[in-house]
Amino acid sequence: MALTDWTAHHGDFFADTSCVVTGGAGFIGFHLCEALLSLGGSVTVLDDLSRGSAENVEALRARGGDRLAFSEHSIVDGARTRDTLAGADFVFHQAAWGSVPGSVDDPAGYHAVNTTGTMNVLEAARDGGVKRVMFAASSSAYGDTEVLPKVETMPVLPRSPYAANKVACEAMVRAWACSYGRAGGRGDLDTVSLRYFNIFGPRQNANSAYAAVIAAFAKALLNGERPKIHGDGTQSRDFTFVDNAVHANLLAARSDGTLGGAVFNVACGEAVTINELAERMASLLGRPDLTPEHGLDRAGDVKHSLADLDAARAALGYEPVVDFEAGLAATVAWYRESLAAATA
Ligand SMILES: NC(=O)c1ccc[n+]([C@@H]2O[C@H](COP(=O)([O-])OP(=O)(O)OC[C@H]3O[C@@H](n4cnc5c(N)ncnc54)[C@H](O)[C@@H]3O)[C@@H](O)[C@H]2O)c1
Repeated sequence: MALTDWTAHHGDFFADTSCVVTGGAGFIGFHLCEALLSLGGSVTVLDDLSRGSAENVEALRARGGDRLAFSEHSIVDGARTRDTLAGADFVFHQAAWGSVPGSVDDPAGYHAVNTTGTMNVLEAARDGGVKRVMFAASSSAYGDTEVLPKVETMPVLPRSPYAANKVACEAMVRAWACSYGRAGGRGDLDTVSLRYFNIFGPRQNANSAYAAVIAAFAKALLNGERPKIHGDGTQSRDFTFVDNAVHANLLAARSDGTLGGAVFNVACGEAVTINELAERMASLLGRPDLTPEHGLDRAGDVKHSLADLDAARAALGYEPVVDFEAGLAATVAWYRESLAAATA
């Protein structure tokens, strides 16, 4: 069940709009599509199912009926991407390969999908008369500086091919707004980059070797195993329930002014250590006996990550809609139910 009443926040703005969600068969994209459908929008999922699932698309079809369309192809295919985006009002660009270690192993593959794919999306948007592209950027742009909280005016210091892809895309997102948009006076395209901080929630993949920490802990605890922590667990993150990322995207789409490729942090603004996380999850699942196992530090991991939200508050009116505790409880409940359903 959705935690957030989207109509209370966004009224009827999206009714009768036409939206494309790239990566809509994946975790964050799914929740964006679900919110847009609940708000009366028509949604096209553009996804090649390389990481997302056909079940997610079917679940969206069950909610949206003929307001949900599915274009199954890669954003690397510029011509098909152009066809899919033609005439859309808004594009929520979530499609990407998302693993930092995966990008270290395959930088060329990541560049093709994440960087060239994003350029294809921007070109298709400008060609297709799209009003605004919302780009899924990443807090990995900040690198490992120790200064907290992270403010958008800090220099970008990517440390992996994945982070470099995301920073390159932010630059294109801005350049396309300036060159082909209201910001430069040559067209109508507007764009924005939303730097997500550790998004979590139902449907996040727990089965990948690179699963995000909450998904990985849920899987371990539900299988009766001790969660594995890299290092001493005192590292902290700004864990952000997925509804907050959806909310920021919807606010950005609705924004009256010209965003001109600006960059905004999207987070909860609260630091939680990995040790606290493991303890809370074990307690929510009734397994406080499953204390974490500590391994070696993971190379390249930043010690702490916490977002400053002032810019997003001022420009978009962003305020988190679901706090960490409520989001974690809903997420843990979802993993428990989905495991029970899988083993029934
Ligand atoms: N989850 C996070 O904490 C987080 C943090 C920062 C940024 N992001 C970004 O948010 C976006 C969504 O992340 P997610 O966690 O939902 O990941 P996800 O892997 O669940 O979803 C990504 C989706 O994109 C699709 N996709 C991948 N390559 C494609 C291609 N070439 N063409 C078409 N579709 C393709 C996949 O099949 C998948 O459905 C990504 O851009 C990611 O980099 C996520």
